[in-house]
Amino acid sequence: MSRPVYYKSFRSRKFRNIHLTSSSIVDATNKSDDVILDIGFGTGESTMTLNEIFSDHVVCGIEAYKPGVKKLIAEKIPVEYGDAAEIIEKFDDNKISQIYMLFPDPWQKVKHRKRRLFSEYTFRIIDRILKRDGFFHFASDNINYAFQAKRIIEKASCRDVEFSKHRGFRPVTRYEVKGIRKRNFIFDLIYFKN
Ligand SMILES: C[S@@+](CC[C@H](N)C(=O)[O-])C[C@H]1O[C@@H](n2cnc3c(N)ncnc32)[C@H](O)[C@@H]1O
Repeated sequence: MSRPVYYKSFRSRKFRNIHLTSSSIVDATNKSDDVILDIGFGTGESTMTLNEIFSDHVVCGIEAYKPGVKKLIAEKIPVEYGDAAEIIEKFDDNKISQIYMLFPDPWQKVKHRKRRLFSEYTFRIIDRILKRDGFFHFASDNINYAFQAKRIIEKASCRDVEFSKHRGFRPVTRYEVKGIRKRNFIFDLIYFKN
């Protein structure tokens, strides 16, 4: 079980001159018992919406796309730039109340699947850092990725997990809108930690 391969896209190279001065989200999470983490937030709409809905929580995010990180720094939302799989390794156990991974890149070609951010490796970390009764919300419009995520969660948690009939608190994101325009079905998996 190895860490997903971190793909630094051409977008990162294009925006390499953007200066980022965010503080560590590990520090921010240590200051509160109610932390929400948005992993791979893209342009940050979901993180900002969660920040509005859960004003009594610390909402923070991790992203590899510099303009998104810059935008949330300007909103004073704690964010970290870089490989989420590596960054979440640094979190303490039983720390986070809610974790969202919304529409992660599906990497459709079989030879690129090792880049998928959601894997058994990341799920085991997510399960470790979630608080008891906390939850992890995965959403995708890619059927292959959605069923792979379901199998990963079921195998690692030794539980049956069904696709959710509701979207929970998941905000609308840019990639959800793109998926709906293509008439794709949206799959939601909500895993509660016992
Ligand atoms: C398809 S976009 C979805 C963005 C947003 N969640 C949405 O639904 O609109 C996936 C995002 O995950 C980010 N990402 C991919 N791999 C990552 C990694 N290893 N660490 C941090 N972010 C990552 C990409 O930069 C991209 O912005």
